[in-house]
Amino acid sequence: VVLTQDELKRIAAYKAVEMVESGMVVGLGTGSTAKHAVDRIGELLHQGKLKNIIGIPTSTKTHEQALSLGIPLSDLDSHPVLDIAIDGADEIDPNLNLVKGRGGSLLREKMVEGVCKKFVVIVDESKLVKYIGGSGLAMPVEIVPFCWKFTAKRLQDLFEYAGCVAKLRIFASSNGMENGGLPFVTDNGNYVVDLYFKRDIGDLKAASDAILRLAGVVEHGMFLDMATTVIVAGDLGVTIKNK
Ligand code: A5P
Repeated sequence: VVLTQDELKRIAAYKAVEMVESGMVVGLGTGSTAKHAVDRIGELLHQGKLKNIIGIPTSTKTHEQALSLGIPLSDLDSHPVLDIAIDGADEIDPNLNLVKGRGGSLLREKMVEGVCKKFVVIVDESKLVKYIGGSGLAMPVEIVPFCWKFTAKRLQDLFEYAGCVAKLRIFASSNGMENGGLPFVTDNGNYVVDLYFKRDIGDLKAASDAILRLAGVVEHGMFLDMATTVIVAGDLGVTIKNK
C-alpha cells in the first residue's frame, strides 16, 4: 500500500503524541502535520487517556483549532517552561537543524519551542535535505513592514555568495479573499521575506547571526540545534532520530 503524504504526516504526528503524558504543558505547532498532533491530543483528552494537559499554541490558527477541540490553553507568560512541543518543519538537515515558517508562524514557534524540555519534530520523508536551503524552497525571514524593500535587499546582499534571491511573501491571488496580491501579514503584524538560495550558505550559526544583526529583522526560520527528536514517516516505516 502506498500511503499519501497526509497519511505519513498523521503517522508521524500520532507517534509524537505517544510522548505526551498527563499533566504536561505542551507546545502546539502549526501547519498540516502539527494539525494531526493537535487533533490527536484533543481526542485522547476526550477519551480520558490524557488528563490535565495545558496547550501553548504557536499561532492564532492553532489556537482556534485547539479551542474548538476543548484543549485547555495558556501562554508563555504563565508557563515560561514547557515539557514538550510538537511541530512540523519545512526542511531537516542531517544534524537536525530545521527550516520552519513556510506557514508564516516562525516567530511564535521559535519563542515556544525554544523553552521546551523536548522539541519533537514530525515530518514525512520529503522534508529531509542534505543542507539547509537544499530543497530550493523558501527560507522565511519575518521583518517589520517599515521600508521592507530596504531590509529585503540587505538580506539578499548578505547571501550574494549563495546566489540568494529575496522575495516579499504575498497572499495568493487565487485564495478567493480580498487580500489576494497584498503582502502576507504574520500573526504579529509583520511581513515575511522568503530567501531562495542557489548554493549551500555554509556556516549556519554565522548566517543566523548576520540575519539577526540587521535592524528591521524580527526573526528567521532556521531553527538551529533546537530539535531533540525527529520523527520521520516514510513508505518504509517510521524512523526516530534523537539528538
Ligand atoms: C508554520 O509556520 C511552519 O513552521 C510549519 O510548521 C511548517 O511549515 C511545516 O508545515 P507542514 O506540516 O504543513 O508542512
